[in-house]
Amino acid sequence: MKNIAIFASGTGTNAGKIIEYYKDSTDLSVSLIVCNKAGSGVLTLAHDCGIHSLMVDRVSFFSKDSILKELSDQKIDLIVLAGFLWMVPESIIHAYPGKIINIHPALLPKYGGKGMYGPKVHQAVIDGKEKQSGISIHFVNEHYDEGQIILQAVCTVEERDDVFSLSKKIQALEHRHFPAAIRFLLQP
Ligand code: GRF
Repeated sequence: MKNIAIFASGTGTNAGKIIEYYKDSTDLSVSLIVCNKAGSGVLTLAHDCGIHSLMVDRVSFFSKDSILKELSDQKIDLIVLAGFLWMVPESIIHAYPGKIINIHPALLPKYGGKGMYGPKVHQAVIDGKEKQSGISIHFVNEHYDEGQIILQAVCTVEERDDVFSLSKKIQALEHRHFPAAIRFLLQP
């Protein structure tokens, strides 16, 4: 059995899709949710699905021993960032080479980097008069949104699109592609 940890701090809709996708799997399991924001929807989701969750604060997250020990105790094979806004410490990146992925709601390398998340990304895409946007699933390295891209999927940006309508298109792409991309990465 391969074990997935999801790091998230938002509503957790992507985490929910991933959990749903693997709930009857015999070889992949979502075993841990790591969250840095009390009251996040993803914590309720973890509770409802009977998945172990871990709340982290800056001290526990950036002091490498506690989080690495938890990941090791849970025998985690892949770390999935799904709306987790903190930089992953180098100690974790080095302990999980090629085993940490993130999803970004735009077509990297454009519209990424520190501070580019949520509605800000979609507003920037609209302001940039882009005809297309999409999602980028990529490996995580020491720099925000700069790791190697694994998969991108595209949607059109119409003139009538606003942040809300574009975010819905992007979310649909995320939910469709993210769970399956994880299986691809954990293939033997
Ligand atoms: C997604 O848009 C993802 O691209 C970004 O954070 C958001 C998480 O949304 N990294 P949710 O909490 O899964 O709904």
